[in-house]
Amino acid sequence: MTTEQASAVQVRTATEEDWPHILKLDNFAFGAHIADLKTGITRDLAPDDNVLVATIGDEVVGVTMHYELQITVPGGGLVDAPGVTWVSVAPTPRRKGILRSMLTEQHQRCRASGAPVSILTASEGGIYGRFGYGPITMEYTRTLDRRFARFRDTTADPGGVRLARVEEAREVVPAIYDRWRRTCAGAVRRPDAFWRGVFADPESDRGGASALFYMVHADGFVSYRVRDHAKRMTVEVSDLFAVTPEAYIALWRALCALDLMQTITVSEPRTSLLPYLLDNPRLPRITGSFDLLWARILDVPAVLSARAYFSDLDLPFEVVDDFLDQGGVYRLRAAGGGEPGECYRVDEEPRVRITAGDLASIYFGEHRADTLAQAGRVWAVDEESLDVFDRAFATAATPQGGMFF
Ligand SMILES: CC(C)(COP(=O)(O)OP(=O)(O)OC[C@H]1O[C@@H](n2cnc3c(N)ncnc32)[C@H](O)[C@@H]1OP(=O)(O)O)[C@@H](O)C(=O)NCCC(=O)NCCS
Repeated sequence: MTTEQASAVQVRTATEEDWPHILKLDNFAFGAHIADLKTGITRDLAPDDNVLVATIGDEVVGVTMHYELQITVPGGGLVDAPGVTWVSVAPTPRRKGILRSMLTEQHQRCRASGAPVSILTASEGGIYGRFGYGPITMEYTRTLDRRFARFRDTTADPGGVRLARVEEAREVVPAIYDRWRRTCAGAVRRPDAFWRGVFADPESDRGGASALFYMVHADGFVSYRVRDHAKRMTVEVSDLFAVTPEAYIALWRALCALDLMQTITVSEPRTSLLPYLLDNPRLPRITGSFDLLWARILDVPAVLSARAYFSDLDLPFEVVDDFLDQGGVYRLRAAGGGEPGECYRVDEEPRVRITAGDLASIYFGEHRADTLAQAGRVWAVDEESLDVFDRAFATAATPQGGMFF
């Protein structure tokens, strides 16, 4: 593509006629042929008004869209969050600014609609920082050899787990997830159409493993696939959500009682109860990690006024935003201990300076301002201001995203 062609890029709302082209772009970008089921679910999650295409002449060369989601913030507030997804540009006109044109239009529209924060799951870690996104939840893959799992004498044995077929799981699991996600910062609401995909469990989602198995407790559930590595059977946990520690313990006792299975892999946040339940806390080995969710704050006062803070603060701080209009100085006033803060623009000298992406990262509690300052990414006028800022944004519990999209 020539520079002239690149400047002829138009970004507009998608129409019905664009869909065959959108699917083609997505297939090539992600290297998989999208099944009709997934297309239908996507179209339910993202009505056409939420879908943008980039065109050169009459050729569709890029797509981005958003689902209407909601995220839980520290303290339990629920905030609407467009979930940016299906982002792709044709390989022929790569690195000509088409993604940037689409995301600019998309985020200006989201901002104009009043959405306070947008979220996404990123295919690569190097793309979205420049657009003011920061990673907000981390997942750690833990692998344990089930044959050696022994629970401590102090670990309860609450019971209450039953095996469920998919038809039974469908009746109870979404409501349990919904209870869980309201208790956990960073957790994303799963719309009904998303659950349709989960329960349909198409062959193409299984990666060669079994269909999903479900175990259900009144306050939690686990779903998993079994992979048979030449008779060394592995349980790959897909979802494990528990509203209470009792449900979590009961589900792990049931998983660890699957005698013919050799290993169990599960993806959990940094802090996990699992090692504390076992005689050998080293048994669940961390074998991988990834950032699940990223967030972009679209409205700093609205988002910062929505969460509760860990400790008192009252100071002016500056947000650096190279992509949207959220740069400037704000004052954040909060009393630690559960009440939401109060944030508004001011004309004052800042005591702390932070980028929009890093602010999103510390907001949900996974990352700390202090760490970012040590890395040279957060500036503070003095140690005390940094300390106050750092402690106020800390959270008692580790955030967890709950949904990949
Ligand atoms: C990622 C993708 C959408 C980029 O499209 P593009 O039109 O080539 O991107 P642009 O030219 O608009 O690039 C915008 C900026 O992002 C940077 N960028 C783009 N892709 C990048 C990547 N994979 N890694 C790091 N930086 C990237 C560009 O260097 C550019 O930086 P700048 O504006 O600060 O100079 C495209 O490569 C693609 O479709 N990839 C496969 C699908 C995918 O991974 N989608 C993302 C899903 S979350």
